[in-house]
Amino acid sequence: MQKAKQLTTTGGNPVSDNQNSLSAGERGPLLLQDYQLIEKLAHQNRERVPERVVHAKGSAAHGTFTVTHDISQYTKADIFSDVGQMTDCFLRFSTVAGERGAADAERDVRGFALKFYTNEGNWDMVGNNTPVFFVRDPLKFPDFIHTQKRHPKSNLRSNTAMWDFWSLSPESMHQITILFSDRGLPQGYRFINGYGSHTYSFINHKNQRFWVKFHFKSMQGIKNYTNEEGASIIANDRESAQRDLFEAIEGGDFPKWRFCVQIMPEEEAETYAINPFDLTKVWPHADYPLIEVGVLELNRNPENYFAEVEQASFSPSNIVPGIGFSPDKMLQARIFAYADAHRYRVGTHYEMLPINRPRNPVNHYHLDGSMRFDAPNGSDAYYEPNSFSGPTQDERFAEPPLKISGDADRYNHREGNDDYTQAGSLFRLMPADEQARLFSNIASAMEGVPMMIVHRQLEHFYKADPAYALGVSEALGLQWEPAGAEAVGV
Ligand code: NDP
Ligand code: HEM
Repeated sequence: MQKAKQLTTTGGNPVSDNQNSLSAGERGPLLLQDYQLIEKLAHQNRERVPERVVHAKGSAAHGTFTVTHDISQYTKADIFSDVGQMTDCFLRFSTVAGERGAADAERDVRGFALKFYTNEGNWDMVGNNTPVFFVRDPLKFPDFIHTQKRHPKSNLRSNTAMWDFWSLSPESMHQITILFSDRGLPQGYRFINGYGSHTYSFINHKNQRFWVKFHFKSMQGIKNYTNEEGASIIANDRESAQRDLFEAIEGGDFPKWRFCVQIMPEEEAETYAINPFDLTKVWPHADYPLIEVGVLELNRNPENYFAEVEQASFSPSNIVPGIGFSPDKMLQARIFAYADAHRYRVGTHYEMLPINRPRNPVNHYHLDGSMRFDAPNGSDAYYEPNSFSGPTQDERFAEPPLKISGDADRYNHREGNDDYTQAGSLFRLMPADEQARLFSNIASAMEGVPMMIVHRQLEHFYKADPAYALGVSEALGLQWEPAGAEAVGV
């Protein structure tokens, strides 16, 4: 047995008794001077930071990304420079709507947030297990999330709010179809794909831009629960996904994903039939096949859940040379939203925490604020420009200019947009038994929803595929006939 270390206060002062508080007499009240007791209680009061406003329940692990194929013709990003090159990474999975104590085996989208600690700073690829999303304009994101969270009065989740919003937002059709398909309730995080979902850009050494979509394909295969299986799992284990991931990694069974990209030459965006910057659409594989890039492996569990998983702060604004943004409006909003959330939730200098800290040198001129524990020593170069050898910019990292045209306006994103074809394609590629589960999953999620809303939603299903609407209406026990486009009322 090793000799135990001396217990101290946070000030390093030795503690003589950690069992009995300091009282005036054996049965007497406690003394204010018992700083050990006060420190302990005060610390306990501060043990939580606010949970994430979305994706609050999660599990994560450390791993490595290894390049298996050369894609340097598309990107100069250092992480992809050589076949065989390895980069440390951290991947946090999550559910979206539930709070921190929510059960894992619930029907929901799963988050797939990756932090790559590259030689040129952190690259955060903050994606989901779905290639699309419910809305395409960020102005609708808070409204959408409110429908997923609790009703302000009943404090219950509301099927009515969800279907009211969805039925008034037909751009959600594609994502709804995924959510209520088998993939809406995965058996665990090892059994999901990850998607960057948005279109991003690649920039190569010749400063040419390509549009790119990121895909991480589970090498464990896709495995899902039915609603009934999910309910019985939750009855016995609320942490089923955390347990599965943690135990697999502890046991040396390291999960892996094949990292692939779809590439579109920059100018093709203007002529391609689908708006490539619309987050409710995929790029069909027949048009843009998957190109293999590498393998991601998770091989180390966090030592401390709070320090690493709860304080992990991912942001699409963490981007590296050779990878860039796109005009996708949702992505544009996310570039702002995440770092703002972290400064509030974790603290101003959250990037200095070990889990968030880049592995390369960080040099900036931001000064004070909470968590500034890396006090830069005595330099006169605390503003820029300066004459004291402070860090400076380097124009070699500039991106090629991006052509933009048009008038500044609020463009109606629902006008003339096809919200149904891709949802219908997904429906049609499901085997009959999965279609049947889709119908019953939707029907059970519509419990208690007013008929006016159900009917409005059935019209949307009908437009995606008549068999889709008829299947859902049958599962609802309705004698339903399509009323026509005007009845949709959006
Ligand atoms: P493909 O036949 O080439 O691809 C179909 C894709 O659908 C495969 O990636 C498959 O994933 C995935 N898939 C199968 N079942 C489901 C499900 N229940 N939920 C979500 N995805 C599922 O066709 P297209 O590229 O033309 O796409 C057709 C439809 O497939 C799209 O409208 C979209 O809904 C869906 N899809 C397309 C993706 C894309 O990037 N093109 C990506 C994911 C889905 P896997 O190979 O892992 O089985
Ligand atoms: C978490 C905002 C869309 C994936 C979050 C958080 C915010 C947020 C504020 C909490 C961050 C934190 O406290 O750590 C938004 C906004 C969106 C949007 C404003 C749209 C306008 C999306 C989309 C995806 C996504 C489209 C996936 C493609 C995630 C994931 C997390 C997250 C995975 C959890 C990250 C983690 O594990 O810490 N989002 N989000 N979000 N979001 Fe979004």
